[in-house]
This record gives sequence, structure tokens and C-alpha cells, in this order.
Amino acid sequence: MIRNPRIPHIATPFILASLVACGQSQDKVTSYTTLGGAESTGWGASESGDNQPGNADSDDAADDDSGDGDSDGGGGDDGGADSGDANGDGDGDGSGDGDGDDPPLLGTPTKENLRVAFIGDQGLGGDAVDVLDLIKDENAEFLVIAGDFDYDDDPSAWDEQTVDSLGEDYPVFAVAGNHDEDKFDGASGYQSKIVTRMQNAIDDGATCTGEPGANSSCTYKGLFMAMSGVDVIDGKSESADYLRGQLAANDAIWSVCVWHKNMNDMQAGGKSDDTGWGVYQACQDEAGIIITGHEHSYSRTLTLTDLGNEDAGHGATGTADLMVVGQGSTYVSVVGLGGRNIRDYEADKHDDDTWWASIYTSNLYLKNGEPVDDWETESGALFIDFNVDGNPNKAHAYFKNIKGEVIDEYDITRGE
Ligand SMILES: [Fe+2]
Repeated sequence: MIRNPRIPHIATPFILASLVACGQSQDKVTSYTTLGGAESTGWGASESGDNQPGNADSDDAADDDSGDGDSDGGGGDDGGADSGDANGDGDGDGSGDGDGDDPPLLGTPTKENLRVAFIGDQGLGGDAVDVLDLIKDENAEFLVIAGDFDYDDDPSAWDEQTVDSLGEDYPVFAVAGNHDEDKFDGASGYQSKIVTRMQNAIDDGATCTGEPGANSSCTYKGLFMAMSGVDVIDGKSESADYLRGQLAANDAIWSVCVWHKNMNDMQAGGKSDDTGWGVYQACQDEAGIIITGHEHSYSRTLTLTDLGNEDAGHGATGTADLMVVGQGSTYVSVVGLGGRNIRDYEADKHDDDTWWASIYTSNLYLKNGEPVDDWETESGALFIDFNVDGNPNKAHAYFKNIKGEVIDEYDITRGE
């Protein structure tokens, strides 16, 4: 049921339109408690109120707008599903011994050494252009944007900026953020621009289904992208169902889940509980790496196995430099340093958190569990190389800023 991606999305009511003020700068935080920190199970105070006045989360009513049948998951037979077994033989031991050294192939691999860039929260000009230039310099094969494009309701300007830096033919996938709602629809809206950029991938063999810029999914170069407009264009439960269905119906070794907003525990600043846990749990259960925007900083959790269970630290496990993604485990990374601005780590909301691997904000830089004392915070992008070192089940990721500094770096292994 691949919908013609050129058909514009029609008349989605926009429920949320609150703009979130940027955090004020404050002194840098030089200490941080990682695993085994404070016992306090609660820090509940920060959950309810937060500092966001506009989190009108009650938009599950929106479930009936753009839902138009996509949540069935039945369309999940993205093209990658079939060719999967072709290379399932090489490594061979498909027995699932679980030793970890040489895990069996678990589906369709990506192209070898496939480098993909991930950003969110861009803006126009300045750092946003530098980030796009970085993506080109790093030779990423395509770009995935987790929402908040130009902050100026100017789809044409945003698209021109993309083309100026990356070229007319560069493949880009994107989901809308809360700043992209008002100009999402229509012949000159964001969705139409997204469709044009996605078409470069489709012309190159990508297969896509769903609503471009909202709940949709694509397979390109073997990577399965389960994208969502959760709490922006689409409702929460609708989005969770959609992602779960799409992820379950494909057999890619590597899947990424991409949307804009957050839960407070899954970002390093003051963002409120917007998305619900359903989308996170769907991706955890179905082996999708979770990449979001919204908070204008970079962060990455440890491997998580119990998303939504704060008392259990969301099931954080393992080491900071190795993520394990499988049925029941994933991790979350926020890539909100696409150029707009840079926000603070909010200690009162996160000092009791026990699930972070790396945090890069204006006032705290934690790298693989170790605080860094002397640094400058710059915009940048996350790059993930899939199918590396001759192992289709292995990936390597790094966040690089526009000064060329590698801010975070880790391996990812695909577990069962
Ligand atoms: Fe933003």
C-alpha cells in the first residue's frame, strides 16, 4: 500500500503549537553522577510540571485525523523484506548461540559501510549550513532529519538551504517537528519538500509507505527507517501502533526509529513528557535505534531494556561505548544540535538519572560516562556507519561537531 508520495497530506488539524523558550545559559556543570547514583526513585516532581507551559498532550484526539489506515502495519512489507535471506548464509552459524562474538545474521543487511547522518532542530543560515556542509564532508550517503526545520515557516527557504549545501539529488528523509506544523500541508508546504528530497532515494531504489513527514517508513540501502509524527502530526497511541507494526513486518538487521519530541527522561534538558512511552517501547521491542530531536543538545543513553520504567532506570545496562540493539533492547539519542541553538543540561531534572552514556550541552559534557572539564559546545551531526568491519551485525557511530571534533563515539551490535 505504498501511497503515491506526491499526493499531499490533507487537512491535518494542528493541536500543538506551543513554542518552547530556549534555556538560559548557566555555569558549566563539572560533575555528574552516572550509574549507581542517587537512590531516589522519584524525582517525580520534575515529571509532572516541568517548565513547559504548552504541552497540550491531550492530542490523542488527533488520532482520527491523519490516521487514515496507516496504523495497520500491513503495509510494512517494505521492499527489503524479500531479499533478506540472500546473504544470510555467510557467517553462518544461525544457531543463536548468544556468545556474542559472531552473532548470526538476523535479516537483511544494509549496504556495507553505509554512513547515514542524523540531525534535528536546524534553523536557517549560520550553524545550520555548517552542519549540512559537515554532512557532505563526512560523505554520509543520506540524511535523516528529526524535525524542526527552519523556525521561520518557510519551506522554500529550508529546501533551498538543503539543496545549496547537499545538492539537488541528495537523498533526505525527514519528519516534522512542532515548528513545522503550520506549513506542513499544501503544494508548497514542508511535506511537499520532503517528498521531493525523498524522491532522490526512491529513484535510487528506496521503498516507502505512509505519510511523508509523519507516520511513514522507508527502506533505503538496507536501512529500515520507522518515522513518526508523534504528538506533532500524529497521535501517541496511533504512532506507537504504527511503529510497532512497521518494525515487526520488516526483517532489516538495522532499523532506526525517528521522531521529533521526547519524554523528559530521554533528553538532557527541560522538555516535557510529550510522546508517551508507547513509541519508545515499540522500538525497544522491535529492535529500532531511537533518534529524536526537540531538545537542542546531544545526548545518548546506555543500552535500555525497560523503557518507561523510571524506577528501574529504564533498564539501563552494559557499557557506555557499546550499544546492544535487539528484540527488547535499544538506546535513545537526541540530535538537536542541527544549528538552531544550544541549550543547557538541567541538573534538577537529571542529576538522579542513571541511564546516560554521553551528554553534550552548553553546561555539561559527559563522554562515555566521563565528565569532560574543558570544552566548547558546537552544533553537529550524528553519523552511524552500518555493517562495518565486515560484520553486517555491527555498526559504529560518532557525533561530530562543526569544528571537526568527535564528541561521542561508540559501537553498536545487533543482538537477537
Ligand atoms: Fe527545536
